[in-house]
Amino acid sequence: MISALLDAVHAVIVEHGINHSEFDAAKQFAIDIGESGEWPLFGDVFFEAQVERVASATSRSSESTIEGPYYVAGSAVLSRPYVMPMRPDEAGVPLVFSGAVLSADGRPLAGALVDMWQCDHSGTYSDVGYPDGRVVPPPGTLRGRFETDEQGHFEVNTITPVPYEIPKSGPTGAVVAAAGRHAFRPAHLHCIVSAAGHQTLTTQLFFVDDQYLDSDVAGAVKPGLVLRLSRASSGEPTNVVQYSFRLAPT
Ligand code: DHB
Ligand code: FE
Repeated sequence: MISALLDAVHAVIVEHGINHSEFDAAKQFAIDIGESGEWPLFGDVFFEAQVERVASATSRSSESTIEGPYYVAGSAVLSRPYVMPMRPDEAGVPLVFSGAVLSADGRPLAGALVDMWQCDHSGTYSDVGYPDGRVVPPPGTLRGRFETDEQGHFEVNTITPVPYEIPKSGPTGAVVAAAGRHAFRPAHLHCIVSAAGHQTLTTQLFFVDDQYLDSDVAGAVKPGLVLRLSRASSGEPTNVVQYSFRLAPT
């Protein structure tokens, strides 16, 4: 594998006539990524979706996609009724997300765990060190874990995520720009879903009509993960959305 990787780099050097100053710039770029702490971001933006496609090609679970760089293990375990940890005045359109966790054969899985995280209404995750000095929500905000009930169902109250621009002032942003791309990800909810005797599923849920579905900077959108939001009938502006996860038995 390593020699195939080196061969691929050698081929690029030959095909593009890379000279010494370009080579020196590439080495400096690698140093800059390390010094800025962006290796996880860089890896996930440019390569995780490809790794994930290979890994999931033979899976019997519902569609998976990348974890991304902003998962934090050990978030709050919620009790019913489930409400994601939020500030009292959390900005954004309320969202009621409900659904089920099923085995691959459609059998409901009681006591399955959904570990969910998302950005706030300004596109910022809690517990992330951003390079641009923005206001970061308090630790644990919009990160939580909750279980399905006896029927395999769950319902959680949160806010509607918004499209999100990855940090673009550092070296990863420079590569995104050099590749002629924008730095946005479509709005998404991240979920890692686990249940006894089943494979753990890492995925994201997106929403129809998002302008970045076809040009996600991380290339992580899959058609089956794009959900239709609808407005609650309560009169208040509240979105509702449903999804059922299916997990392959181990
Ligand atoms: C990436 C993925 C995300 O889900 C996110 O919110 C930010 C960045 C990424 O692939 O780098
Ligand atoms: Fe994300």
